[in-house]
Amino acid sequence: MHIGLLTGGGDCPGLNAVIRAVTLPLIGECAARVTGIERGFWGLLHGASRPLEATTVRGILAEGGTILGTHNRCDPFKDVDGVDRSAQALAYAKDTLKLDALVAIGGDGTMQIAERFHRLGLPVVGVPKTIDNDLPENDRSFGFDSAVAVVAEALDRLATTARSHGRVMIAETMGRYAGWIALEGGLAGGADAILIPEIPFDVAALAAWCRERESREGHTLICIAEGARATGHDLTVKTRLEGSPDPIRLGGVGSWLQAQLEPHLQSEVRTTLLGHVQRGGTPTAFDRVLATRFGYHAAELVRAGDFGRMVVLKGADCASVTLESVAGRSRPVPMDDERLLAARGVGVWLGG
Ligand code: F6P
Repeated sequence: MHIGLLTGGGDCPGLNAVIRAVTLPLIGECAARVTGIERGFWGLLHGASRPLEATTVRGILAEGGTILGTHNRCDPFKDVDGVDRSAQALAYAKDTLKLDALVAIGGDGTMQIAERFHRLGLPVVGVPKTIDNDLPENDRSFGFDSAVAVVAEALDRLATTARSHGRVMIAETMGRYAGWIALEGGLAGGADAILIPEIPFDVAALAAWCRERESREGHTLICIAEGARATGHDLTVKTRLEGSPDPIRLGGVGSWLQAQLEPHLQSEVRTTLLGHVQRGGTPTAFDRVLATRFGYHAAELVRAGDFGRMVVLKGADCASVTLESVAGRSRPVPMDDERLLAARGVGVWLGG
């Protein structure tokens, strides 16, 4: 058996732990040959791969990033010039490498592409990866816990300045169109207000609330997701990458909010954009374990010949769903989410 393995989309703590947990059982228990495809689907398109041996993947469990490299702007079905080169990528996988199956570790973009290759006859198993925690059918993705830990620590640190100087401190998190990172990070870091994409907020009401806190508490800590927006306003877009599978880069809503609040407040308002700090570095213990479970479950699906599926966490257990059922969908924070209710219950301002 010859299995290809790739990591697509943005890097994420725990990717190397998955690579290790897919490779070691396939080699050790199935006597399979494992080949790492470099930089996601880019490597499939450009013929870039290398063998993965047990010795290659030992010792990478706690390493951040991905030893295979990744790419979040490469779609063989729509190359940079708009041309469909999926046949070329498929020929490399099936004729050159003679892969029996491909394990694709990635986010929604990677799963959509993987599903299309699966339909074209390349057996695929998907492993969900995203710090955003927004993949459908999956209760928790590895990388999310690590990102939340960074946000919580950042808020702890920002809170001391907020209190000491009597300021409004704004921390902007990642998360794209879902508020999971801001919600859990904000809860863990004791934010006074948490603003998420799922709940558009009223700027005037937020300003009035901060003003009231100026006399009552003297300071305010706001955790805002990059995809959050005020009622009647658009998303704050940092850059547009035409032709990319993911053409919108979000960022800057924290600074925008600062400019909106400043005229109404006496205290200073400062913004910290947490950015890629949330995505880098070593995974937490929780993410190392989850990534290892996901990788092992993917290897089991390969061993069983159960293709066209993505590994998921359902409650406390690993399971799998069809790639078709997740492709093109996301998972916003539902309004009855327990974390949201708890946040409201402890007095966090949620905007609505
Ligand atoms: O999907 C993960 C993520 O980190 C998002 O939270 C963020 O919007 C995006 O990727 C940033 O992507 P890039 O690294 O390409 O700027």
